[in-house]
Amino acid sequence: MSPRRSHRLWPSGLVPVVLLAAGCGGNDQSTISPGGKAARDIATLWWVMLVGSVVVFAVVLVLVAVVLLRRRALRGAPDLEPRGRVGTWVPVVGGIVVPAVVLAGLFALTLGTLSSTSPASAGSTSLTVQVTGRQWFWDVTYPDAHVRTANEIHIPVGVPVRVEVSSGDVIHSFWVPELNRKIDMIPGRTNTVTLEAMHRGMFRGQCAEFCGLQHANMAFVVVAEPRDEFDSWLATQAKPARPPPNAALENGQQVFLGSGCVYCHTIAGTNASGKIGPDLTHLASRSYIGAGAGANSPGELAGWILDPQHVKPGNRMPGTDLTGPELQDLLEYLESLR
Ligand code: CUA
Repeated sequence: MSPRRSHRLWPSGLVPVVLLAAGCGGNDQSTISPGGKAARDIATLWWVMLVGSVVVFAVVLVLVAVVLLRRRALRGAPDLEPRGRVGTWVPVVGGIVVPAVVLAGLFALTLGTLSSTSPASAGSTSLTVQVTGRQWFWDVTYPDAHVRTANEIHIPVGVPVRVEVSSGDVIHSFWVPELNRKIDMIPGRTNTVTLEAMHRGMFRGQCAEFCGLQHANMAFVVVAEPRDEFDSWLATQAKPARPPPNAALENGQQVFLGSGCVYCHTIAGTNASGKIGPDLTHLASRSYIGAGAGANSPGELAGWILDPQHVKPGNRMPGTDLTGPELQDLLEYLESLR
């Protein structure tokens, strides 16, 4: 098929329709497949507004059609003035009373949704997570458990979790569409949002405020799991990395500690205590690398370590020039950090 012909098959007016339809596919990050109570209330409000506006639009269309048909029927009979037959109650009811009732109802519903999406007050929740947005990853700490991690937030199912957000550089926005509304991360300020999952699941989050070149690649996941699994995850994350049990892993650790990695990354239990990049103490327990830039597999991790600027241009990590065996040892070591 010639390019010109294929172009003709895609009239420009269709493109937004196709993009919208594509956005509705799949279950990822959909505001209308809520996994939390707050998101459920937001979705309910959205459905009410959609159905309500469709009904109102349909009624208006019917009334317009009635008027047009009546005018046509009266054509040629100029003495019959149609306005005279309709009382003032029509504009009063249709233009004032009905809109006032509809808007008052929506206002009340919106107020209810606002309160259910508002953050729980300090001290009213048993778990607090602090998240700092950085270009371009999410620095996550559980202050009570002395845990620091990145790009993956675990929460227990059915427990409201107070998330305190801030920024280390520019304005970001923390948004998990399936759990709650978004909240801006502003340098020098702490904003809060409550996340409460109704069921087990992995919910994708995304930066929702343009923050530079890799704004689109600033993602994270919220893992909601039963309380006992969460507790054991938290206990594991609180431990320092275990010492390398064999020579190969020891070599890998030496590669890490002998390179520039230590200036930016922390691995608790070693001398690496850099704070600029994500904490790597339990890197292998996470599903993604580079804030959603790739899966946490040896192949993708190797590509990231060698040339992170190719994977995610503009991020703050420089490439490395490790030899093949060094890279192999380093990978084995990093993949052992569970
Ligand atoms: Cu961070 Cu957009």
